[in-house]
Amino acid sequence: MSDSGHASLAPPPLDTRIVGARVLIYDEVDSTNARALEAAGDGLVVVADRQTAGRGRHGRPWHSAPHTGLYVSVAFEPPTPGLVFAAPLAVRDALAPLCQAELKWPNDLLIGGLKACGILAEQRGNRNVIGIGLNVNHRRDDFPPELRDRATSLALATGCDHDRALLLHAVLTRLDRQVIVLRAGGVEQVRRLWADACRIEGRRARYKGDEGVVVAVAPDGGLVLDTPRGVRRALFGEQVELMEAE
Ligand code: BTN
Repeated sequence: MSDSGHASLAPPPLDTRIVGARVLIYDEVDSTNARALEAAGDGLVVVADRQTAGRGRHGRPWHSAPHTGLYVSVAFEPPTPGLVFAAPLAVRDALAPLCQAELKWPNDLLIGGLKACGILAEQRGNRNVIGIGLNVNHRRDDFPPELRDRATSLALATGCDHDRALLLHAVLTRLDRQVIVLRAGGVEQVRRLWADACRIEGRRARYKGDEGVVVAVAPDGGLVLDTPRGVRRALFGEQVELMEAE
């Protein structure tokens, strides 16, 4: 237990090359992404028991219930292209012994169709940061009412609580492996794995009012849609509404 009386977030010793060169563990921060962008160091990990200003994609807040979730960011210096593809694969693989999580374009993880993990990449100067918010031991009431029908946690999906420090270890270990591949020139290899895992090619989707079929995933992770008004291109992370798979 930490000073706060809650289970420690300190992971067991890491056998990694890049990720976890330094690990900073906080009871509370505004945002682990903000801290990781400020601090220096390739492979620096910032993890917190709670966030007071967790950041989500599209400027949305990331609700960070205390003592229940995994809120972690990793900084890379120089920036590592392809992190947005590598991180969701790393989380999916870390969860594999516990449950089957599915990737949802661009980089959410769903369990049983409900969101269990969100990922936010940010860059400042010569540093990029990947932030992972994983719902671990949340009960339904730990989510704000508007999210209760769309979000889930590992505990809700598996029927038991999980040790966040062990999960952190598993996620960082998998992320390190992916980063080694990225830095060895394997961005396209990881991107292909990610695109296949998203299972988005061939799906019907609506983008800026036009409905069509996703015919390809672009090299930057964006989508190419064939619509009645011609080919449309959605950038990675832009709002695209996916239709139900048949
Ligand atoms: C999303 O909108 O789906 C992305 C959410 C990312 C949340 C994580 S929690 C750890 C890290 N710190 C932040 O402020 N955000 C990310």
